[in-house]
Amino acid sequence: MPEIPETMDAQVIREFGEPDAFEAAELDVPEIDANEVLVEVAATSVNPVDTKIRSGYASDLCPDFPAVLHGDLAGEVVAVGDGVAEFAVGDEVYGCPGGIAGTTGALAEYAAADAATLAHKPETISMREAAALPLVTITAWDGVVTRADVSPGESVLVHGGTGGVGHVGVQLASLEGGVVHATASTDAKRDLARDLGADYAFDYHRDVEDYTAEYTDGEGFDVVFDTVGAGADNLGTDFAAAGVKGRVVTTVSRGEADLDPVHSKGLSVDTVFMLLPLIHDDHAGRLRHGEILERVAALVDEGDLDIHLDDTDYGLDEVSDAHSRLEAGEHVGKIAIRVND
Ligand SMILES: NC(=O)c1ccc[n+]([C@@H]2O[C@H](COP(=O)([O-])OP(=O)(O)OC[C@H]3O[C@@H](n4cnc5c(N)ncnc54)[C@H](OP(=O)(O)O)[C@@H]3O)[C@@H](O)[C@H]2O)c1
Repeated sequence: MPEIPETMDAQVIREFGEPDAFEAAELDVPEIDANEVLVEVAATSVNPVDTKIRSGYASDLCPDFPAVLHGDLAGEVVAVGDGVAEFAVGDEVYGCPGGIAGTTGALAEYAAADAATLAHKPETISMREAAALPLVTITAWDGVVTRADVSPGESVLVHGGTGGVGHVGVQLASLEGGVVHATASTDAKRDLARDLGADYAFDYHRDVEDYTAEYTDGEGFDVVFDTVGAGADNLGTDFAAAGVKGRVVTTVSRGEADLDPVHSKGLSVDTVFMLLPLIHDDHAGRLRHGEILERVAALVDEGDLDIHLDDTDYGLDEVSDAHSRLEAGEHVGKIAIRVND
C-alpha cells in the first residue's frame, strides 16, 4: 500500500482576484467518504470555469477559503472508500470530480473524488493529456451526441473549433458522421480544425449570412454547437446560421436574446451545463460522467479521439501563469498543469 502523508502541497486562493491570487499552502490530505477514492493527482488542466471561480464571477461555485480549485484531474488511486467496487489502489484514473463548493479540487497533491465521476485513464496518452480531457469532453459529448444527436450527413457548425470544448466537439461530430464546419480566428487554427476532422473551416469574423450561403446554399445548418462562451450575445448569430427546424446547442446561454428566429424557424435551443451533477449531488448524473469517460478512453486508445494540448508546460506553482494565458486567449486547445507528474 502506498504511504499517504498527513499533509500535502496545494495552491489555494484566500480571496477572489486576478491570476496572482493563488498562493502555496500546506493542507491536510483530504479524508474520503465511502463512495470516494483518494487520488494522487498527477496533473490537472485549466477550464474557463476555474478562472471564473477564481475571479469571483462564479463566486457561488467556490469551495470554502482557503479554496482548492480545478475540477479536471488524472492520477493514481491510493485509497478506496468502503463502498467503492470499480477502482482499486494503483488504478490510473481521470475525471472531473470537484473543484467547486462541497468538493475538493485538483490543485493539490491529493484529491478526494466521488468514484462515480471517474473512469480508467486512457492507456495510450500521458497524465497531462488525460487531465485535459474530462470537463471539455463531457461537455462536447452532452452537446453533440446527447442533445444535438447528430445524424450521418447532417451539416454541423461548431463555433470555436480549436477551443477546449470545440476541438472535441469537432471530432465527436465527425465521428457521428456529420459534415463538420468549424470556425476559428487564424489560418493555423483552421488548419488544426481540419486536422481534427472538420470538413470545412472558416473565420468567425465573416458575416453569418455570407458563410451560411456559401456552405449550405442558404438553407442553414442542421446543428449549431456554440462553444464561444459569449452567451446570449452569440445566440443571434447561431439562430441566423441554423436552418428550419435546426438544433442550436450552447455552452453558455446567460443574457437576453431575440427569440423571433427560434419561432419562425422552429428551432430547438439547448444549453449544456456539465457541472450540474456535481452542484446538485446527482448520483445518476455523476455516474453518466464516469460512463462517458470510459467510452472516451476507448475512443482515445483506438486512435479515434485526440486531445490537443496547448504548447506550454506548467507546474503546480505556475498556476497563475496558466490562468493568465487562458484569460488572454493565447492558448490553443487545453492548458495542462503538472502536479505530481
Ligand atoms: N456550460 C458548461 O457545461 C460549459 C462547459 C465547458 C465550457 N463552458 C464555457 O464555454 C466556453 C468555452 O470553453 P472552452 O474551454 O472551450 O474555452 P476556450 O478554450 O477558451 O475556447 C473558446 C473558443 O471560442 C472561440 N471564439 C471566441 N470568440 C468567438 C466568436 N465570436 N465566434 C466563434 N468562436 C469564437 C475561440 O476561438 P479563437 O481562439 O480562434 O479566437 C476559442 O476557440 C467558456 O465560456 C466556458 O466557461 C461551459
